Amino acid sequence: MDQQWHSRLDQPPPLIGSAEFAARRARVLEALEGAAALVLAGREVVLDSVPARWKTDRLFWYLTGLDHESGAAVLFDPSAEDPKRRITLFLRNRDPEAERWDGPREPLASGLRERLGFTEIRRTSQLPAALTAAARRTKRLACLHAFTTYTEELSPDLEIFQKVASHVPGVTIEDRTQLLPALRAVKSSAELALIEHALAITAAGFARVLQILRPGLRERDLVDALLHTYRSHDAEPAYELIVGAGANSTVLHYRDGDTTIQDGDLVVMDCAAAFGGYASDVTRTFPASGVFLDEQRDIYEIVLQAQQAAIGAARPGATFTEIDAAARRVIEAAGYGDAFIHGTSHPLGVEVHDVAPDGPLREGMVITIEPGIYLPEKNLGVRIEDDILITADGCHDLSGRLVPRTVAEIEAALRR
Ligand code: GLY
Ligand code: MN
Ligand code: MN
Repeated sequence: MDQQWHSRLDQPPPLIGSAEFAARRARVLEALEGAAALVLAGREVVLDSVPARWKTDRLFWYLTGLDHESGAAVLFDPSAEDPKRRITLFLRNRDPEAERWDGPREPLASGLRERLGFTEIRRTSQLPAALTAAARRTKRLACLHAFTTYTEELSPDLEIFQKVASHVPGVTIEDRTQLLPALRAVKSSAELALIEHALAITAAGFARVLQILRPGLRERDLVDALLHTYRSHDAEPAYELIVGAGANSTVLHYRDGDTTIQDGDLVVMDCAAAFGGYASDVTRTFPASGVFLDEQRDIYEIVLQAQQAAIGAARPGATFTEIDAAARRVIEAAGYGDAFIHGTSHPLGVEVHDVAPDGPLREGMVITIEPGIYLPEKNLGVRIEDDILITADGCHDLSGRLVPRTVAEIEAALRR
């Protein structure tokens, strides 16, 4: 096992700085090739007076680092004469009454521009005029937010662009929805360092679980221990943690947590931390009493073999379909094809289920590999999930060596 994560915990990597956010925006501006575009933060909807956590749209965060700016937007206007005004951040007006409730907001001044790395920041009340002017000059509006299906609301930029196009003759609307997924999918070294740090914290959580796991605990006792570990390292859960014992190990998104773990149960733990805006996503399946029963071990070995086959298939140019097929072949050959009821991989990054462009894998992408077999009639579920980096000549398993994964490693860790 790689115990390096212990030392890494004490050295958190730097968060993404304003220079990297600015560089991302510059790449978008260049890729737009003269079209104007808008990325919207979304709006906080306060349903009652109880404070709840709201976060900006992750495309907006990826370009700004701003988590809590309801109503904000970034306008890309390649036609602006002054280069400093080609990328503008629009923030909603200040409201002294609201600031008594939610905390003070900064005035538009050089300090704010420097901190956020924008050369131009204006108020959202000025956005309609700025966008109309950009549309008149460019005649091209590029959609960056993913399109939605016709049963949902229009994507936010498309809805606005349709209105603008009905006000400004000759404006065309373009599909550039692959642009930001393509940028986001390929990780910089700073992003990779944050994912690896999130994984070190995830590993610390599993190490704690291995110390305390025993029959008689409730599932949520493990969740509490994991959350405590994450928070002690300034991290948060990357998603609602899933800890399911016995029959609950077969429920993919089990969340109740109130079942007492029994002798002989397998416990599926899909539990991972997020750090600095980046998620990790790891699942381990441990036997509550410290050793796998024969049938549990057999199923576990099949899932692990499927995972290794999928990892072996991951390289630049391979597709998600091919990786899934590699895992599925192993599980089908063992006779459990119908018990593998989900996909094998998804991209990982700013979001747990991150965005990626259509098409094959590229060097620098981070994806999960997570086959499983679920047998409700036997109260037996197994999932093994790790995060891998696609490299020039294959892939690098980022998490496999951080948390016990083979039967021997798990049983040895539980013996201690
Ligand atoms: N934790 C959610 C997933 O594995 O996709
Ligand atoms: Mn997961
Ligand atoms: Mn996953």
